[in-house]
Formats: sequence, C-alpha cells, structure tokens
Amino acid sequence: MAPSKKTAPARPKAPKKTARPVTLGDWLKHAVARYKKTGAALGQIATNSHDEALYLLLRTLALPLDSKPSVLKHKLTAAEVMAVEKMLHRRLDQRIPAAYLTREAFLGEYRFYVDERVIIPRSYFLEIIPQQLDAWLPNPAKVRRVADVCTGSGCLAILLAHHFPKAKVDAIDLSPGALEVAAINVRKHKLASHVKLHESDVFDAVPKVKYDVIISNPPYEPSAHCDELPAEFHREPRMALDGGKDGLDIIRKLLLRACDRLLPHGVVLIEVGGLQHAMDKAFPELDLYWMHTADGSNCVCLIQAERLCKWKG
Ligand SMILES: C[S@@+](CC[C@H](N)C(=O)[O-])C[C@H]1O[C@@H](n2cnc3c(N)ncnc32)[C@H](O)[C@@H]1O
Repeated sequence: MAPSKKTAPARPKAPKKTARPVTLGDWLKHAVARYKKTGAALGQIATNSHDEALYLLLRTLALPLDSKPSVLKHKLTAAEVMAVEKMLHRRLDQRIPAAYLTREAFLGEYRFYVDERVIIPRSYFLEIIPQQLDAWLPNPAKVRRVADVCTGSGCLAILLAHHFPKAKVDAIDLSPGALEVAAINVRKHKLASHVKLHESDVFDAVPKVKYDVIISNPPYEPSAHCDELPAEFHREPRMALDGGKDGLDIIRKLLLRACDRLLPHGVVLIEVGGLQHAMDKAFPELDLYWMHTADGSNCVCLIQAERLCKWKG
C-alpha cells in the first residue's frame, strides 16, 4: 500500500506589510488613500484629495505652497510625523474642513483669514468681478458705490474694493461673528478706508445710499438639503448656507429691496448655486441674465435697475 501523502498544514499567511510612509511623497500617497477610505468630503478648498492633501501637508510642515516637486523627497522627522498624523486625524476622522485647520482660504490671488464663524470662500464671483462685470457698466472707472450683501469673511467686498479702487464698498452681514472675521480681512488687506462693515438683515440697517453695483452670494441651499450635507459642511455656519424652504428667502428679500438701492444705470448680481431653474420660474418677469462660468454652471444672475424696478412696481 502506498503510504498516504501527508499534506503539511497550511502556514498562516503573514500579514502584508505596508511600508510606513517616510518621505513627503509617501505621506501624500498615504493621505490620499485615507481620504478615499474615510469618504471625506471635498469642495471647500479643493475638488480632489491629492490637491487638498498636498496643501495640508505643505502647510503642516511649514513648507512653501509653491515648493518644487523635489520637496516630495523630504524625509519627515519624528516631530513632523506626529504633526502630520494629528492633522490627518483632525481633517479625516473629525471631519474639520482644511481651511479651518489652517485658518486661511484663497480666492484667486487673494488670501483670507477664516474660522468657524464664516463659510469658506469659494464663490463664482471670482470669475465675474474682473472679467465680466465691467461690460455691464456705462463707465467702470466712475463706479463710486458698491455693496456686498451677505459678505461673510468679506472676501467679495475685498475683491470689489481692489477692482474699483475709487469706490466705497458697503459689506453687509447679519452675523456679528462673520463681521468680526470680515474686519480682520479688511484690516489685513489695508482697505479700512474703502470697505465699511454693516450688521444688517439685507439692507434694513444700512444708511439709504444708492449703488452702481450690488452683489450677493447669499445662503441659497433649501433647508432640507442643508440637513443632508456631508459633515464638513455642517461645520460651516448654518445661516451661511440655509436659504429657507425653497432656498430663496434671502434672495427674495434682496430683490425686493434692491430697486430702491440702485442708481438708474445700476446692476445687481446674485449667486444662486443650483437654483437657476427655480429662479427663472419664480421670477419670469425679471428675465434673468445668467453670467458665463468656466465650468458651465452659470449660477450668477444679473438684473439691471430698470427691469428690477419695473418688476417691483
Ligand atoms: C454663502 S455665505 C457668503 C459669504 C461670502 N460672501 C462668500 O462668498 O464667501 C452667506 C452669508 O450671508 C449671511 N446672511 C445670512 N442671512 C443674512 C441676512 N438676512 N442678511 C445679511 N446677511 C445674511 C451669513 O451670515 C453668511 O455670512
């Protein structure tokens, strides 16, 4: 009889060793994998995890944001590893938005201080204010008064002040906390003599002056949609996002008040997120003009004073 072949018991497989990140490039890969694993939400300062992770790593290690690619070869010290691990924990496990961790946000070339008192700047007005707005004004060099309703961090008021250096800018918000942040930014941009802050529900508490231009990036999310937003967006002030049942509460109020606040050649521009169709339906007589944006969302509308005042009657 042939001896039965004994099969050796299968050896338990050694767990696959994942190499510990050593260089900044390793930590970047590791971070990107963790963004994916945790399902962290993007869209506040970057639209992809690579860019956001790289930004956070560079800031955590106090390296310039315009570092050369060779920076990825940098080997982290023990103290740097601890700092990076802490930052990743706060961003990815606690879901704190990147901009609140670094206390800064950018709109184009401009840098702003931000914290939890304000929404993180990400407005489409960045594409509108310099390139497109002037075409609607009889003489952009003669613009003397502009208003930014719902100013938050003051970022758009500051963009306006840079673009119209001879104009006085009224920056309006109902949140005292947001206005404290706006004051920091106005000071940092050395624009205190150009930008005046007002605590007001739209124009209610603002002295009765008339403007060449009114812009607004108001809260426009329908309330039910706010409830469903990812954790990162719940860290932003609810009153910066929630536009009431249909998202149009503040927009309606602004449209009703704006006629009395515009010079005859004036224009009002409002950013409305995904409410383009809702706006066209709610205000057909306004024949809203939708400004072009690079990603095709075209979510900023423009209305001239004449049409607005005719509508208001
Ligand atoms: C979407 S955030 C815009 C902030 C900033 N303009 C930007 O683009 O980043 C809307 C802002 O509107 C403010 N706000 C909400 N209701 C308001 C009201 N009734 N009157 C004035 N501001 C209001 C919020 O406090 C918040 O700062």
